[in-house]
Amino acid sequence: MTPSEKSRREASPPLFLGNIDQLLSLQTSSAKPGPRRGPYLKELGIIQNAAVLCLGGKIVSVGTTKDALRDPWLKRNRKRVTEIDCGGKVVLPGFVDSHTHPVFVSPRLVDFEKRIEGASYQEIAAAGGGIRSSVEGVRAAGKLILAEKVLAALRDMATHGTTTVEAKSGYGLTVESELKSLEVVSDAAKQWPGTVISTLLGAHVVPKEFQGRSQKYVESVCKEMIPQAAKRKLAQFVDVFCEKGAFTAAETEQIFEAAKRHGLSVRAHMGQLSETRLQPFLRFNPASFDHMDHVNEDDIAELAKHDTVTTLVPGANYFLGLKEYPNARKLIDAGVPVALATDYNPGTSPTLSMPMAMSLACTHMKMTPPEAIAASTINGAWALRVADRKGSIEPGKDADLAVFAVDDYREIPYWFGANLCSMTVVSGSLAHPR
Ligand code: NIG
Ligand code: FE
Repeated sequence: MTPSEKSRREASPPLFLGNIDQLLSLQTSSAKPGPRRGPYLKELGIIQNAAVLCLGGKIVSVGTTKDALRDPWLKRNRKRVTEIDCGGKVVLPGFVDSHTHPVFVSPRLVDFEKRIEGASYQEIAAAGGGIRSSVEGVRAAGKLILAEKVLAALRDMATHGTTTVEAKSGYGLTVESELKSLEVVSDAAKQWPGTVISTLLGAHVVPKEFQGRSQKYVESVCKEMIPQAAKRKLAQFVDVFCEKGAFTAAETEQIFEAAKRHGLSVRAHMGQLSETRLQPFLRFNPASFDHMDHVNEDDIAELAKHDTVTTLVPGANYFLGLKEYPNARKLIDAGVPVALATDYNPGTSPTLSMPMAMSLACTHMKMTPPEAIAASTINGAWALRVADRKGSIEPGKDADLAVFAVDDYREIPYWFGANLCSMTVVSGSLAHPR
């Protein structure tokens, strides 16, 4: 807990949400410990006419409103408790958006129009566009401007019910600009009440000045970026875009080795455009493999035995206008733990709405609404290794909650493009409306 988080918690008065039509606790007694998989992904632990009491930033009790009102502590302290009537509302854990790229300056409108005219993401990248076209802006920008952009995104995320966010660097691609991007994430995080987990994505693409000398760039990632980010505690994770035109499997292993040497955990963009065999990476115990449009059958069977989460980001498929989406059904039915995230970025997924990602998961990947909810909360928390304090509403966990103005939780992915989040609670205090 950061000092500002601590003081916020101490300052927050007790909060009681009562009369909740449906509370999705995400508690389950039947699932094995670890990320939710197979049939357990759809267990939402729903309590009707529910209440939740938050104290000191934590959840202290969850149950029916009737039982809560009989609680002797609540009876004695009712006057100093902030009470919110959640009649006609659904309450669920704040979303955990476990994959975002918020440190950029401008939208990529040229790429957008080129794709409308028929060019593919790969063709645009090969011609010098794509990720590389966001680099100049980030290198030139001051920290203040960048931090304002990141903070604006975080605030907007909170208005959509998100309370925990993973934020990657990856548009600086020099030691200085990657570290600057991580500093910016940390500066923005200090001004946002939610929780931010930082990831160094220095290995997003080989920058122009290293073209044809990718090994030299990988050395800079391994020998400069990773050690400095680790030493200055600027990142918890190291990510690699493992793909044709970005980094090879061998380079990814090299970068993972360096991350481990410096005490950082790893995750990777895998199988977005083509298949890479995953087995060699499992010895690094990656927190997640993300995208996974292309994945081998044997690797699916292997992933079902591991806690590495497969994070699906259907916003990217939608925005690139692709007909194909990752095969969520096959992954879930095989027992692979699946999470959902926005992949908020200027190239492939300019959305920061988890409900939108959930809607796409239901309509284009045939995930059921309960699966989409669990993938956006408890499994997102597993993907970030914060499931001990995030992702479900149970005593002892952080009081991070999203309140939706709907009668039935299935309306959250149903009303696509709408924002029906009426209130977001972070560490027991109102974060939205502010
Ligand atoms: O997750 N594929 C790599 N990274 C991002 C896209 C980044 C960009 O195009 O700016 C993604 O889709
Ligand atoms: Fe991404």
